[in-house]
Amino acid sequence: MANYLVTGGAGFIGSNLVNDLIKEHKVVVIDNCSMGKVENLDHSSNLKFIKGDVTDYTLMERILKNKNFDYIFHLAAIASVADSVERPVETHQVNFDSVFQLLERVRKYQPFLKRFVFSSSAAVYGDESTLPKQEESVIRPLTTYAIDKFSAEKFVLMYNNLYGVPTCVARFFNVYGPRQNPSSSYSGVISKCMDCFEKMKDNSNVKFTLFGDGKQSRDFVFVKDVIYALQIISEHPNSLGEVYNVGVGKATTLLELFSIIEGILGKNLPVSYEKARFGDIKESFADIAKLSALGYKPKYTMRKGMEEYILYFNQNSKKI
Ligand SMILES: NC(=O)c1ccc[n+]([C@@H]2O[C@H](COP(=O)([O-])OP(=O)(O)OC[C@H]3O[C@@H](n4cnc5c(N)ncnc54)[C@H](O)[C@@H]3O)[C@@H](O)[C@H]2O)c1
Repeated sequence: MANYLVTGGAGFIGSNLVNDLIKEHKVVVIDNCSMGKVENLDHSSNLKFIKGDVTDYTLMERILKNKNFDYIFHLAAIASVADSVERPVETHQVNFDSVFQLLERVRKYQPFLKRFVFSSSAAVYGDESTLPKQEESVIRPLTTYAIDKFSAEKFVLMYNNLYGVPTCVARFFNVYGPRQNPSSSYSGVISKCMDCFEKMKDNSNVKFTLFGDGKQSRDFVFVKDVIYALQIISEHPNSLGEVYNVGVGKATTLLELFSIIEGILGKNLPVSYEKARFGDIKESFADIAKLSALGYKPKYTMRKGMEEYILYFNQNSKKI
């Protein structure tokens, strides 16, 4: 039984990770519930939930000073690119400063730590058009969010090089699955699409607003594959000091995605087409060779992931 600290553990990816870990391990979660919810977490004597902010450095110092952790996953972030554009200073405090401060406390107080995993984003690649994205591809971050993620990555790796803190980085592509919050402007096309199907029950005039022609593509990765990737990245000896793309290594267009969802539900999604937004990236998908070399192989096709996601919706009184 190992000891884990998961920041942002009540959010979408965090709660999926924590609910898996508490089956066998002790987990401390810190989350300010700005986006996440305690209800996302299963009840377990292995779980300790702390409602708090990762920018509260007195609290963070207390947590890190008083307990030895084996693994730390730093997932807490203002995960909305739009928010980072609206409030660059506040998001920088969470998305960059908290990482730096946490690393420093880990260096001081966590001599037995096996791994610190930082959750970064494919947003760091920006609008450079070479595909697929490799970890060493050109980095062209375009927003405060992406710049903060990339700068934080650099500090995370520097703490490994200079101070021997056992760190590594996971760059998530477009994650989808249960407990994704559709009200987040970051939550992406899939949860917004599910939200639209749900609203259609009460209002037949609801339409899904699609910016562009639907031929834009993304690397959609089911959250359970992300948890599986995080487990490999945190435990594999070769991942120390390294950066990994986390995706499925395949591009799916939005039109293909809608067709999969419509096929499962047996319903059409009414779409209202709008002009593509300035700065929207047309295509993106990951090269996952580096992660595959550690033994990762995605278990979920788009169809299988969507079937499981829809089943979750229907079991949680949101029948669509
Ligand atoms: N979902 C994706 O597709 C995706 C893609 C790339 C990167 N990421 C990254 O993965 C991580 C998890 O993202 P998610 O999709 O689960 O988002 P999320 O918003 O569901 O999770 C983030 C969690 O952090 C918490 N949080 C925010 N600010 C905090 C603070 N100051 N102190 C303590 N807790 C705070 C929120 O309440 C939330 O529970 C983030 O770092 C995000 O940037 C996600």
